Amino acid sequence: MVRGVVIVTLAWGVAACSGGADRGGSGLSGGELFLRHCSGCHPEGGNSKYPQKSLDRFTLAANGIHTAEDIVATMRNPGQGMTRFDRQTIGDADARKIADYILATFR
Ligand code: HEC
Repeated sequence: MVRGVVIVTLAWGVAACSGGADRGGSGLSGGELFLRHCSGCHPEGGNSKYPQKSLDRFTLAANGIHTAEDIVATMRNPGQGMTRFDRQTIGDADARKIADYILATFR
């Protein structure tokens, strides 16, 4: 009985540490999701197909992308040469995590 409580507490602690506030998402962090879905074409936030469409803030802003919502909109409805990521592929919670990661990481 007591041991069960300890294990539950530990598991919760681990979930909280791994970036936790994952409401209905995959449980992966924005960085992990970016590596999995995006880094093939956007290594280190660049763009291997069109270097002028990289993911650093200045380039994004120059291309009209300012907020996390704008990045999610790009995933849902991308330009030429980019894979389309619909809600079945990347749910809204995960898409938002990726967007936040991009804004926080590539400057
Ligand atoms: C198959 C290659 C490919 C993959 C995979 C890919 N992208 Fe792209 N991405 C592109 C290309 C090509 C463009 C430029 C499209 C255009 O001309 O509008 C682009 C453009 C973008 C832009 C706009 C950049 C700018 O400066 O205007 C964002 C934001 C973006 N991608 C985010 C993502 C995210 C987030 C993922 C992962 C969920 C992803 N991309 C996966 C190829 C890819």
